[in-house]
Amino acid sequence: MRPGRGTLSRADAGDENERMWESYAQAYDRILLRMPFYREVVARHVKAMTQAHVLRVIDIGAGTGNVTLQLVRAGREVTAVDSSPAMLACLRAKLPQGDLSNPRIIRHSAEELGQFADGSFDGASILLALYAVERPKDALQEVLRLLRPGGAIVITEPRRCFDLRALLDAAEGFLRDDGALEPMREDWERVKECNERFDPGKRPTLSSEDIFERFRSLGFERLSFEDSHMGHCGTIRGCKPAGLAPTDRCVDGRASAR
Ligand SMILES: C[S@@+](CC[C@H](N)C(=O)[O-])C[C@H]1O[C@@H](n2cnc3c(N)ncnc32)[C@H](O)[C@@H]1O
Repeated sequence: MRPGRGTLSRADAGDENERMWESYAQAYDRILLRMPFYREVVARHVKAMTQAHVLRVIDIGAGTGNVTLQLVRAGREVTAVDSSPAMLACLRAKLPQGDLSNPRIIRHSAEELGQFADGSFDGASILLALYAVERPKDALQEVLRLLRPGGAIVITEPRRCFDLRALLDAAEGFLRDDGALEPMREDWERVKECNERFDPGKRPTLSSEDIFERFRSLGFERLSFEDSHMGHCGTIRGCKPAGLAPTDRCVDGRASAR
């Protein structure tokens, strides 16, 4: 079907999204790493993925690698997946010289990761990536397939009450208090623009509450929910139950063969 007037074809929308990630990538670490709520949530994901039984980790939507790189330093074998070449270029630029095998960097969409066998990972981290994916249910389904029974998962996504305006205002306040707002004005405008484009409040996405409820109904173990981003997001942690077949439709509840 041809796109209607004023709408973008899938390919054009993909190109435009990538231009947005390219722009975001230039400012991402300079702005985000100044935000206390971002540093806190990164630390939370790293902690969840450095439990003793978690050695092989997949980081979905790894971006510039702030979780990935800490996990590598902590001795984990990490596979970083992201669809954006620009984001992954930032990640690569931060790698020390030497071992090129860890992290393994995969440029791919999270919705289809057929190159990995069922149960390939002991741990899976998704930090604010599902909201940006076109088919978040498929991406979540895929990551559950890749997690071995007993494996740990940590996901932070927007809550139902997510309010982009309020979060951006708070973030701008942090920059202002640090005396960084004017010197970093250009970076800040990039961050705002990208967040406005992917505003989860305007996209069909899975809220953190949806994910938590789904995991609870699937019998996830050691399940917890914690606020993040000053209450705008939520972090779900849990372990995949042993009885969950990799081919079950885990996310929308329908049972079907893949
Ligand atoms: C807000 S950033 C989060 C990056 C990183 N997890 C962090 O917290 O710093 C979202 C990331 O999701 C990636 N992304 C968007 N759509 C994707 C898809 N379909 N498959 C894989 N990654 C995707 C973007 O390229 C971007 O790097």
